[in-house]
Amino acid sequence: MQKPSHHIFVCGSFRMNGTPQGVCAKAGSMQLMQYLEGELADRGMADVLVSSTGCLKVCDRGPALVVYPENWWYGRIDSEEAIDAVIDSIESGAPADEYVIA
Ligand code: FES
Repeated sequence: MQKPSHHIFVCGSFRMNGTPQGVCAKAGSMQLMQYLEGELADRGMADVLVSSTGCLKVCDRGPALVVYPENWWYGRIDSEEAIDAVIDSIESGAPADEYVIA
């Protein structure tokens, strides 16, 4: 297996205690994940891996995702425009400041 250059963890609102869906899933994070994967493919960024996660504990700023290895925490990723900004940040090497939450 070849290690990915980047790994994007998208909050899927999963909770260990079985609590119903949280903020990010209700706000469409899983649907945006499909757009994210499609856009990465369109840009030829096959070395960027996308995974869904449990609650990232920043619900008040969701939908949220994290980009590694940079450790960029993004919030309010609720549109294709926001996803494009995240991908642009990976390509450029500079964080998308308007969506950075940590
Ligand atoms: S549900 Fe996404 S951060 Fe909590």
